Amino acid sequence: MTTVSNILASMDYGPAPEDARIVTDWLGQFPGGFGHFIGGAFTTPGETFEVQNPATGEAIARVSQGTPEDVAAAVAAARKAQPGWAALSGHERARHLYALARHVQQHARFLAVLETIDNGKPIRESRDIDVPLVARHFYHHAGWAEILDSEFPGARPHGVCGQIIPWNFPLLMLAWKVAPALAAGNTVVLKPAEYTPLTALAFAQIAAECGLPEGVLNIVTGDGATGAALVAAEGIDKIAFTGSTEVGRIIRRQTAGTGKPLTLELGGKSPFVVFADADLDAAVEGVVDAIWFNQGQVCCAGARILVAEAVAPRFEKKLAARMRTLRVGDPLDKNTDMGAIVHPVQLERIRALVAKGQAEGATLTQGEAPEGCFFPPTIAADVEPASTLATEEIFGPVATITTFRTPEDAVALANATRYGLAASIWSENVNLCLDVAAKVKAGVVWINSTNIFDAGAGFGGYRESGYGREGGREGMTAYLAHPRPAASRPEAEPDAPVATPGLASAGPGIDRTAKLYVGGKQARPDSGYVFAVPGGLAGLGNRKDIRNAVEAAHKVAGWGKTTGHNRAQVLYYLAENLSARAVEFEGRLASFGIARPAAKAEVDAAIRRCFWYAAQADKFDGAVHQTKTEHVTLAVPEPLGVIGIACPATQPLLGFVSLVLPAIAMGNSVVAIPSQAHPLAATDLYQVLDTSDLPGGVINIVTGERDALARTLADHDDVAAMWYFGTAAGAKMVEAASAGNLKQTWTEDGAARDWFGPAGQGREFLHRATQVKNIWVPYGE
Ligand code: NAI
Repeated sequence: MTTVSNILASMDYGPAPEDARIVTDWLGQFPGGFGHFIGGAFTTPGETFEVQNPATGEAIARVSQGTPEDVAAAVAAARKAQPGWAALSGHERARHLYALARHVQQHARFLAVLETIDNGKPIRESRDIDVPLVARHFYHHAGWAEILDSEFPGARPHGVCGQIIPWNFPLLMLAWKVAPALAAGNTVVLKPAEYTPLTALAFAQIAAECGLPEGVLNIVTGDGATGAALVAAEGIDKIAFTGSTEVGRIIRRQTAGTGKPLTLELGGKSPFVVFADADLDAAVEGVVDAIWFNQGQVCCAGARILVAEAVAPRFEKKLAARMRTLRVGDPLDKNTDMGAIVHPVQLERIRALVAKGQAEGATLTQGEAPEGCFFPPTIAADVEPASTLATEEIFGPVATITTFRTPEDAVALANATRYGLAASIWSENVNLCLDVAAKVKAGVVWINSTNIFDAGAGFGGYRESGYGREGGREGMTAYLAHPRPAASRPEAEPDAPVATPGLASAGPGIDRTAKLYVGGKQARPDSGYVFAVPGGLAGLGNRKDIRNAVEAAHKVAGWGKTTGHNRAQVLYYLAENLSARAVEFEGRLASFGIARPAAKAEVDAAIRRCFWYAAQADKFDGAVHQTKTEHVTLAVPEPLGVIGIACPATQPLLGFVSLVLPAIAMGNSVVAIPSQAHPLAATDLYQVLDTSDLPGGVINIVTGERDALARTLADHDDVAAMWYFGTAAGAKMVEAASAGNLKQTWTEDGAARDWFGPAGQGREFLHRATQVKNIWVPYGE
């Protein structure tokens, strides 16, 4: 018999199960399974599949496998509703979003229990983290709807958004996608993950109850095939995806050339860095939140613990002791720390990866886990940096632990991943933390904290963790379109350059061929060939030249770290030197058949553009977001790295500077392919660049066949972004090729933009040239 003295002796917890009846009663209302939610009502279920409670293996519901026809019906409903929804005032849309937030709060217990039964996550997390954040998201975005017109003048919704979400935070991911989309005046077709579709269906029902107009929110359930049908559907204007990097790549290729804006929130392998002077007990609790929160099924999980050698033994001992206190088991028990893995397939995946890691030499320290779909909390030591456990996203409660000696080592290890979603940094020295935060390649950095989320801050990755941000002002921009220049005529397909041997191979003589410009020096093309262009001969660059140029561009990483003031000085100097040679440039443009006044106007505009971006270099800055108490959340725009730029054929000088200047003003280095038709307008700039204190390698210029060179740039894994202003076919090629390292792309018909007018310069260019890092800095004792 349990007596008080027994309990005091063992200090064991008694069971504290949450009552699930509220959910079983609701599920009981759908004995024939769930249909999709289209046009404000559930459809009759079609072919259905089973949804299980992963903690028990029990079947809890059946949901419909969405067909392309179902997707088409949902898109049609969203399309029909969209004009009316967008025509509501911001205030009216805000009222709907407030209503959604309030109803989520009213149904909070029901939603938390349903989420836990469907997903396996501990009720403590669904109740205290997921559902409150869902409500917070709708409140926050109700606010954006209210002030949309004044905060984003001229912006309009995309139209119908197709949204695909994963199973790790089913309702929260819905909120992250749906709230900004609706606030901006879009309507939505959302596909939840096949393992966890139930809270989306419950939410749809709640939305109908609180009067959201029919067709504004549509839910189509199903597996990856349904997701693929949604991506392919006619009538979708924007795609937003959260899930694996592998599927992100498929979607990037599938949408290439369609003109549909795409945001991707993908995988991660985030570092958790513990310096010797960290509060080790706090850092241990940090690990609990970093890798054992939600069973480690978190895209930004701190899966790679990097700990200073000096404190590693002490830290590991504390961590192992803490790990053994974690209670793994019934997710509905309020005392449970770690619940079930979402599905036996995912459990098998975790087991296979861990077994592979062991075969590669990893040593495991593990806690306890019951039989069933559970995996014990695990720390893997003796892990080589290139091994499976250190590189693959495990998406389970498994962290690797590695030691480092110096902060430089820590940064190098932190960045030794193709991902860049998040990082967590622990030290009592905030100077060190901020220094490392600046050096880590990640979209979110938590200082002395981890896995903190708020609707007011952007969330999203660098590198293969995807692009686009969710949350805050940054997230709103993903759901708003700015009127794009409409092509009055498409950019003409340029003739293939006719290669002729260059003078170098033709014998001695005065070589008047414009060379390439790589690393601050003129360089002969690797091919030895040139091609005839109006005004002379230009070097015919090839893959090797592009690779050399990318390498040179990488060598000037210091450019991104110089102050905005220093970059501005260089741009002013450039303007000055260009002014001094204005007549020469006018002459060059006139020699292409451009009328003299137009040539003069183009040179004048190019000079003014230097001034404008010089002025912006130290002014385009970030924000301090309003998030949680006792936190400053810094949104810092950072350069992307190396940007490949394929310039439009027309306005060969102005088009070139309009694209290259914003990129370098923000601290990027570039590899630019000038107008294929008139490259000499750009190659004449070499001396201007040489005399303007621009560090060699910041601007590299490779002339030649635009699309062949652009292809090499788009394929290149060390190029972070690709801007392409050519033909529609070229844009498609660039977008598809960019899927390799998931580089950001900006593609447009070069003939559409009037480089003279307001479309030729502006903050959009600076946004394109930067990515926002959100750094969370807690304060207070
Ligand atoms: P997944 O990427 O296949 O699934 C995510 C969503 O995409 C689901 O709704 C799925 O139905 C849908 N989907 C699948 N194939 C699609 C396609 N071709 N077109 C459109 N939609 C498609 O992820 P999965 O298979 O569930 O998990 C596998 C691994 O992916 C995990 O072990 C984890 O490493 C990673 N993952 C990462 C997530 C993240 O948030 N970063 C979330 C989920 C999984």
